[in-house]
Amino acid sequence: MSSDNAALVIEIATEHQMHEIGVRLGSALIAGDLLSLNGPLGAGKTTLTRGIGEGAGAQGNISSPTFLIARTHATESGTPFHHIDAYRLSSPAELDDLDIDYAGSICVIEWGSGYAEGLAESMLEINIERDLQTDLRTISILGTGRFTDPRDFLGETK
Ligand SMILES: Nc1ncnc2c1ncn2[C@@H]1O[C@H](COP(=O)(O)OP(=O)(O)O)[C@@H](O)[C@H]1O
Ligand SMILES: [Mg+2]
Repeated sequence: MSSDNAALVIEIATEHQMHEIGVRLGSALIAGDLLSLNGPLGAGKTTLTRGIGEGAGAQGNISSPTFLIARTHATESGTPFHHIDAYRLSSPAELDDLDIDYAGSICVIEWGSGYAEGLAESMLEINIERDLQTDLRTISILGTGRFTDPRDFLGETK
Protein backbone atom coordinates (compact mmCIF):
# COMPACT_ATOMS: atom_id res chain seq x y z
CA MET A 1 0.00 0.00 0.00
CA SER A 2 1.47 3.27 -1.03
CA SER A 3 0.69 6.62 0.49
CA ASP A 4 2.10 8.51 -2.47
CA ASN A 5 4.76 10.15 -0.43
CA ALA A 6 2.39 11.90 1.93
CA ALA A 7 4.27 12.90 5.03
CA LEU A 8 3.43 11.07 8.21
CA VAL A 9 2.60 13.76 10.76
CA ILE A 10 2.71 13.08 14.49
CA GLU A 11 2.08 15.43 17.40
CA ILE A 12 4.35 14.98 20.36
CA ALA A 13 3.47 16.44 23.72
CA THR A 14 6.38 15.42 25.89
CA GLU A 15 10.09 14.77 25.80
CA HIS A 16 9.38 11.22 26.94
CA GLN A 17 7.10 10.64 23.96
CA MET A 18 9.77 12.02 21.60
CA HIS A 19 12.25 9.58 23.11
CA GLU A 20 9.84 6.65 22.76
CA ILE A 21 9.18 7.37 19.08
CA GLY A 22 12.93 7.35 18.62
CA VAL A 23 13.28 3.99 20.35
CA ARG A 24 10.59 2.49 18.15
CA LEU A 25 12.24 3.85 15.04
CA GLY A 26 15.75 2.93 16.12
CA SER A 27 14.84 -0.68 16.78
CA ALA A 28 13.81 -1.04 13.11
CA LEU A 29 17.03 0.34 11.65
CA ILE A 30 19.62 -1.65 9.73
CA ALA A 31 22.91 -0.91 8.00
CA GLY A 32 22.41 1.49 5.12
CA ASP A 33 19.71 3.54 6.81
CA LEU A 34 20.13 7.29 6.97
CA LEU A 35 18.04 9.72 8.99
CA SER A 36 18.03 13.45 8.41
CA LEU A 37 16.66 15.46 11.35
CA ASN A 38 15.68 19.06 10.92
CA GLY A 39 14.08 21.79 12.96
CA PRO A 40 15.28 24.79 14.95
CA LEU A 41 17.53 24.72 17.99
CA GLY A 42 15.65 23.15 20.89
CA ALA A 43 13.16 21.38 18.63
CA GLY A 44 14.15 17.96 19.95
CA LYS A 45 16.56 16.55 17.37
CA THR A 46 19.07 15.31 19.94
CA THR A 47 16.30 14.02 22.21
CA LEU A 48 14.96 12.01 19.29
CA THR A 49 18.46 10.82 18.41
CA ARG A 50 18.92 9.55 21.97
CA GLY A 51 15.82 7.40 21.56
CA ILE A 52 16.90 6.22 18.11
CA GLY A 53 20.30 5.27 19.51
CA GLU A 54 18.71 3.36 22.38
CA GLY A 55 16.46 1.48 19.96
CA ALA A 56 19.40 0.68 17.71
CA GLY A 57 21.46 -0.55 20.66
CA ALA A 58 24.03 2.25 20.45
CA GLN A 59 26.50 2.22 23.31
CA GLY A 60 27.66 5.27 25.22
CA ASN A 61 26.09 8.62 25.75
CA ILE A 62 24.40 10.43 22.89
CA SER A 63 24.71 14.16 23.31
CA SER A 64 24.85 17.32 21.26
CA PRO A 65 28.49 17.45 20.32
CA THR A 66 29.82 20.96 20.93
CA PHE A 67 33.10 20.62 19.10
CA LEU A 68 32.70 17.35 17.30
CA ILE A 69 30.82 17.09 14.06
CA ALA A 70 30.38 13.36 14.32
CA ARG A 71 30.47 10.69 16.97
CA THR A 72 30.45 6.97 16.30
CA HIS A 73 28.81 4.56 18.72
CA ALA A 74 29.26 0.81 18.65
CA THR A 75 26.03 -1.19 18.72
CA GLU A 76 25.07 -4.63 19.94
CA SER A 77 24.52 -5.81 16.37
CA GLY A 78 27.97 -4.65 15.30
CA THR A 79 26.63 -2.04 12.88
CA PRO A 80 28.26 1.33 13.68
CA PHE A 81 25.87 4.13 14.66
CA HIS A 82 27.03 7.56 13.50
CA HIS A 83 25.56 10.70 15.03
CA ILE A 84 26.43 13.75 12.95
CA ASP A 85 25.67 17.39 13.62
CA ALA A 86 25.89 19.28 10.35
CA TYR A 87 25.17 22.66 11.94
CA ARG A 88 28.74 23.88 11.64
CA LEU A 89 29.44 22.44 8.23
CA SER A 90 29.63 24.92 5.41
CA SER A 91 29.44 22.55 2.47
CA PRO A 92 28.38 18.95 1.82
CA ALA A 93 31.95 18.25 0.69
CA GLU A 94 33.04 18.54 4.33
CA LEU A 95 30.96 15.47 5.13
CA ASP A 96 33.07 13.47 2.68
CA ASP A 97 36.10 14.09 4.87
CA LEU A 98 34.52 11.97 7.56
CA ASP A 99 34.80 8.93 5.27
CA ILE A 100 31.62 7.35 6.52
CA ASP A 101 30.57 4.03 5.05
CA TYR A 102 26.86 4.83 4.75
CA ALA A 103 25.99 1.44 3.30
CA GLY A 104 27.59 -0.33 6.26
CA SER A 105 26.29 1.82 9.09
CA ILE A 106 23.29 3.59 10.57
CA CYS A 107 23.61 7.33 10.31
CA VAL A 108 21.62 10.12 11.99
CA ILE A 109 22.36 13.65 10.81
CA GLU A 110 21.05 16.61 12.78
CA TRP A 111 20.55 19.64 10.50
CA GLY A 112 20.81 17.14 7.65
CA SER A 113 18.84 19.13 5.08
CA GLY A 114 21.18 20.05 2.24
CA TYR A 115 23.74 17.47 3.39
CA ALA A 116 22.02 14.11 3.62
CA GLU A 117 20.38 13.99 0.22
CA GLY A 118 21.80 11.34 -2.07
CA LEU A 119 24.08 9.74 0.52
CA ALA A 120 21.92 6.65 0.95
CA GLU A 121 19.15 4.94 -0.90
CA SER A 122 16.95 4.67 2.16
CA MET A 123 16.56 7.97 3.93
CA LEU A 124 14.05 9.20 6.46
CA GLU A 125 13.64 12.94 6.60
CA ILE A 126 12.20 14.07 9.90
CA ASN A 127 11.19 17.65 10.39
CA ILE A 128 10.36 18.87 13.88
CA GLU A 129 8.36 22.00 14.54
CA ARG A 130 7.90 23.48 17.96
CA ASP A 131 4.94 25.57 18.98
CA LEU A 132 6.41 28.15 21.30
CA GLN A 133 3.04 28.80 22.95
CA THR A 134 2.10 25.21 23.78
CA ASP A 135 5.58 23.60 23.59
CA LEU A 136 3.97 20.94 21.44
CA ARG A 137 6.18 19.36 18.77
CA THR A 138 4.85 18.33 15.40
CA ILE A 139 7.05 15.96 13.47
CA SER A 140 6.58 15.19 9.81
CA ILE A 141 8.29 12.21 8.30
CA LEU A 142 9.04 11.47 4.67
CA GLY A 143 11.08 8.59 3.37
CA THR A 144 12.81 7.11 0.36
CA GLY A 145 13.92 3.57 -0.46
CA ARG A 146 12.73 1.12 2.17
CA PHE A 147 11.26 4.07 4.11
CA THR A 148 8.86 5.06 1.32
CA ASP A 149 6.01 4.38 3.73
CA PRO A 150 7.29 5.53 7.11
CA ARG A 151 4.20 4.05 8.77
CA ASP A 152 5.80 0.64 8.35
CA PHE A 153 8.45 1.74 10.81
CA LEU A 154 6.36 3.61 13.32
CA GLY A 155 2.97 1.98 13.23
CA GLU A 156 0.05 3.83 14.67
CA THR A 157 0.88 6.35 17.33
CA LYS A 158 -1.16 7.20 20.33
N1 LIG B 1 7.87 17.25 23.23
C1 LIG B 1 9.19 17.44 23.34
N2 LIG B 1 10.03 16.79 22.52
C2 LIG B 1 11.37 16.99 22.61
N3 LIG B 1 11.96 17.82 23.49
C3 LIG B 1 11.17 18.49 24.33
C4 LIG B 1 9.76 18.34 24.30
N4 LIG B 1 9.23 19.14 25.23
C5 LIG B 1 10.26 19.78 25.82
N5 LIG B 1 11.45 19.39 25.31
C6 LIG B 1 12.77 19.91 25.69
O1 LIG B 1 13.30 20.61 24.57
C7 LIG B 1 14.71 20.43 24.49
C8 LIG B 1 15.09 19.83 23.15
O2 LIG B 1 16.48 19.85 23.05
P1 LIG B 1 17.31 19.02 21.99
O3 LIG B 1 16.75 17.65 21.87
O4 LIG B 1 18.75 19.16 22.34
O5 LIG B 1 16.96 19.84 20.65
P2 LIG B 1 17.82 20.06 19.33
O6 LIG B 1 18.80 18.94 19.19
O7 LIG B 1 16.78 20.08 18.24
O8 LIG B 1 18.48 21.41 19.47
C9 LIG B 1 15.12 19.55 25.65
O9 LIG B 1 15.55 20.38 26.69
C10 LIG B 1 13.80 18.86 26.03
O10 LIG B 1 13.75 18.56 27.39
MG1 LIG C 1 20.91 18.89 18.82
